[in-house]
Amino acid sequence: MEWKPNRDDQKPLYKQIAAYFEAEISSGHLPPASTLPSERALAATYAVNRSTIVAAYAELESMGLVTRQKGSGTKVSSDIWGLLNKRMPNWNHYVEAGSVLPNFPIVQRLREQSKDDRIINFMSGELSSDLFPTEQFQTILSSHRFTENLGYDEPQGNERLRAVIAEHVQAYRNIQTDASSILITSGAQQALHLIVQGLLQQGDAVAIEDPSYCYTLPLFRSAGLHVHLVKPDNNGIRPADLIELHKKHRIRMIFLNPDFQNPTGTVLSLERRKKILDISSEFGIPVIEDDPYSLTSAGEFNQPTLKSLDLNGNVLYISSLSKIVASGLRVGWVIGPHPVIQRLADIKQQVDFGHSIFPQWVAKEFLDSAYFPHHISLLRQKLERRKQEMVTSLQALLPEQVEYETPQGGIHLWCKINGLSNENRLIEEAIKKGVIFTPGRIMGSESGFVRFTYGRGNEQQIREGIKRFKEALIESTMT
Ligand SMILES: Cc1ncc(COP(=O)(O)O)c(C=O)c1O
Repeated sequence: MEWKPNRDDQKPLYKQIAAYFEAEISSGHLPPASTLPSERALAATYAVNRSTIVAAYAELESMGLVTRQKGSGTKVSSDIWGLLNKRMPNWNHYVEAGSVLPNFPIVQRLREQSKDDRIINFMSGELSSDLFPTEQFQTILSSHRFTENLGYDEPQGNERLRAVIAEHVQAYRNIQTDASSILITSGAQQALHLIVQGLLQQGDAVAIEDPSYCYTLPLFRSAGLHVHLVKPDNNGIRPADLIELHKKHRIRMIFLNPDFQNPTGTVLSLERRKKILDISSEFGIPVIEDDPYSLTSAGEFNQPTLKSLDLNGNVLYISSLSKIVASGLRVGWVIGPHPVIQRLADIKQQVDFGHSIFPQWVAKEFLDSAYFPHHISLLRQKLERRKQEMVTSLQALLPEQVEYETPQGGIHLWCKINGLSNENRLIEEAIKKGVIFTPGRIMGSESGFVRFTYGRGNEQQIREGIKRFKEALIESTMT
């Protein structure tokens, strides 16, 4: 709270404080039913006597702006219409009225916790900052010439970056394309948004893997889509399950994360890739191939992309630099047939007039330099060490309680927790011990699973985090 009462002012302190809160309430900064600071806390903040705060709150109460109850403190009145000189919108109604659903409350709660430096974070699905190529970026920023246009660029994205991405996907993922078939997005996340908003309608049925990153996005439910979950085994989802689902629900789109799937780490087998493309062609269902993880593989990884196997233009390919370079860069892309790219670019233009030139420029310089292959090869080694550390720690500390398949790539370990009776209690105990993770339920899975992101911490943090998790697990099963 930055405002402070002015001791040189003629107006009594309690009046100044009451006037300040009246203004906060009428501007909507303090909405109806919100709680005001306790008298003791506010007295300490303003370095005044507690009786001054009592008098200020009494003044607000006499105006009908707040209610005071023993035990629950002072709250802004629920109904303050007509009490203020100016009418104030009821922000609570507006906040609930928007067309995009909020994130799951547990996600919001865990994100709050992640701001605390003492917490070991196995939840955020990203690399830790020491894996970002910060020094190489500094060199690029200080020594490469910036000659880009600073005006509104094409909403499809900077043409030179698109040309570099066309070369990149050809070299690393065997995808033949050119700049005109690529749209630059603010991460893979925006690509998913644009596809849902631009190509689907309320009531459409879509298939996603269960569990899945897509499930964490309220976007699908906000758009009124019917989301059908398909369970994978160790080789990804079964094509026969897709056919059955389509017969029942007329699936309009299939969303897949075939390589090191988030969260299970599974890789869709080649045979299934081909069968899914056959299904896509037979029934005319587009496939969205979301591929942010394939370059994180521990060793050689030669599984062909669906896009490179697709002869009919049925696949929209999404990728991003978030999991291999830096998530804060917010550079992702979609590759697809021209009419689709044009349609998505038109929406992007309406949303944000196209992506900012600076991240696009840095991404282009980095991808086009010798830094990139060097960075990827180091990243793979470091991720492999972290994964091994997590597996070793789990084997040593929780050999019976935690089951998993060790993935060949990605940044996550998907774990089944045996004998877990109270998931919420585990989360709360873990927060108390100083470790957070992603509860499986928010990714669509049945309860009893958790996702640990090993890319987010160094080896020492991983060891300590698993130790804390073990303590929390023991605590959560005690009566
Ligand atoms: C499978 C998958 N797709 C898309 C995203 C979004 O990533 P970004 O928008 O940072 O590229 C994520 C992030 O965790 C992911 O795991």
